[in-house]
Amino acid sequence: MNATNITWHMNHVKREEREHLLGQKGITIWLTGLPSSGKSTTAFTLEHDLIKRGRLAYVLDGDNVRHGLNKNLGFSAEDREENIRRISEVALLFADAGIITITSFISPYRQDRDLARKKHGEKGLPFIEIFVDTPIEICEARDPKGLYKKARMGELKGFTGIDDPYESPLNPEFVSRTEAKSPEILSLEIIDYLRSENLLRS
Ligand code: ADX
Repeated sequence: MNATNITWHMNHVKREEREHLLGQKGITIWLTGLPSSGKSTTAFTLEHDLIKRGRLAYVLDGDNVRHGLNKNLGFSAEDREENIRRISEVALLFADAGIITITSFISPYRQDRDLARKKHGEKGLPFIEIFVDTPIEICEARDPKGLYKKARMGELKGFTGIDDPYESPLNPEFVSRTEAKSPEILSLEIIDYLRSENLLRS
């Protein structure tokens, strides 16, 4: 922490008031998985389905956030850690605003995801970790951006799943297996889960 002489200023409006206004709870739905596992497709389908149901949802997506807020970060272990730290903080702010916040990042390190979970717990915000569990052979066969191919040819170093680690969740709230199901079905399954946990209404 480099900033000094700073003081926390309390909001006059409570989170409950914002949630009451929106008729929903602020939560973070954290999607994690290998590149091309289907995180972003599932996240954007889920966002659309929630909006259709009158719920305010917003996706924070890895490739998109790396065009702006995190454009100064690469893919070293330190930069991935910082990427996830910043996104945890942004997700906290969005969820505190009352938004159903859906993050779609590889987030390869267990420790970083656990820290995001801990921070949410400290603020009393639900954190739903969803493992988008697609076998690497299928991710590699999909390869819409051609990055697995580049990594196999040695043109891209440190690619997750090939020569960089991915630590799968040990105890996620939900596991999505995209090889057998469409994003539409997965999204409905996640909505059913959120309903069953009473997370969709304030
Ligand atoms: S994370 O590891 O820091 O969580 P993030 O989800 O933000 O990654 O970004 C992943 C996206 O960056 C991938 O979808 C892919 O398009 C792109 N990418 C570029 N280089 C790499 C790499 N070395 N490893 C993984 N993804 C990469």
